[in-house]
Amino acid sequence: MNTSVTPSKGRAKAARPLAQHARLDVEGLVGQQSVALLKALHILTREGQLNQDSRRKLKQVNHLVQLMEGPLRECAVGAQSDGLHPLTLVDHGAGKSYLGFILYDRFGSQNASAHLATSLESKGAEGEPAKSAMALQVFCVESRPELVEKSAQLAREFGFTGMKFLNVLSHDAGALLEMPATVDVVTALHACDSLSDDAIEFAVSKEAKLIFLVPCCQAETAALLKSNRALFINKTPLAELWRHPLHTRELGSQLTNVMRCLYLEALGYVVTVTELVGWEHSMKNELMVAKFTGQKKKLAAQRLVELLGQFGLQPLLETRFSRIKEHLPP
Ligand SMILES: C[S@@+](CC[C@H](N)C(=O)[O-])C[C@H]1O[C@@H](n2cnc3c(N)ncnc32)[C@H](O)[C@@H]1O
Repeated sequence: MNTSVTPSKGRAKAARPLAQHARLDVEGLVGQQSVALLKALHILTREGQLNQDSRRKLKQVNHLVQLMEGPLRECAVGAQSDGLHPLTLVDHGAGKSYLGFILYDRFGSQNASAHLATSLESKGAEGEPAKSAMALQVFCVESRPELVEKSAQLAREFGFTGMKFLNVLSHDAGALLEMPATVDVVTALHACDSLSDDAIEFAVSKEAKLIFLVPCCQAETAALLKSNRALFINKTPLAELWRHPLHTRELGSQLTNVMRCLYLEALGYVVTVTELVGWEHSMKNELMVAKFTGQKKKLAAQRLVELLGQFGLQPLLETRFSRIKEHLPP
């Protein structure tokens, strides 16, 4: 597997103006987006129009980017306090790398002059302080080589030299040589099944300060629930929650997200759970934001273990939540 595709320097020269060319406010992201980039990502049509699907997608990504801006800037102050290191962000299950590109276009140092100029013009008039661009390095982790190849090509055309595209499973991304020992921010947007768990494991192992997750479908927990259904139905009325297959799936997703929150709390993160955008845009709409404080909650670890026991999910303690074992009484 080709693990790393980085934009080459050779094409950056012709490309740079693309990102800085026409910029406009699109779908909620005030502060200007590159029209050329949105067209290249096929979010805008050649004529500059948005179709219904891309409008929905853009609205979600832009909303997430807006929510991320404050915490990212806060985090960047810490990360760049020595003036040497860029803020590192790793996006898991990047797909076409919409999130990475839009973040980099908006905040990356490549755009410093364009974005700063825009900020000065638009905010200065209202007396608000202008916002500076950050030194940003974005790693996009994706298992489909053709998407990685395309994104790398696009980044070359736009001169986005701070973006790297890694064709690797999230589970293996942490061990790559090009991946720093620690990272600042981890994201996973619409990460299917256990990909969100791999992103969490990656984030914890790399001491990420911020994690943004929008989990998608979940199958692993549902499969465990299904396998223990017959055993539990005579044991506890709780088993009614997963007697019907449709409920098994829904409960599997819900329980998994609840357990992910407890896990992160047990490992020293403060977690908030909100809706990303209204349900009319997507059924997969739960946004989990975790911020590292270092305060590990023992109660969260205990509750997680109790939940695993009550729902017959103990195997997950070994596979997904093994890091809390050290916080439990022997
Ligand atoms: C539903 S798409 C979401 C894409 C993107 N985050 C977005 O919101 O537009 C999930 C992506 O994760 C990738 N993927 C699935 N499992 C993966 C894994 N274990 N490691 C890396 N990428 C994975 C898929 O190929 C797919 O592109």
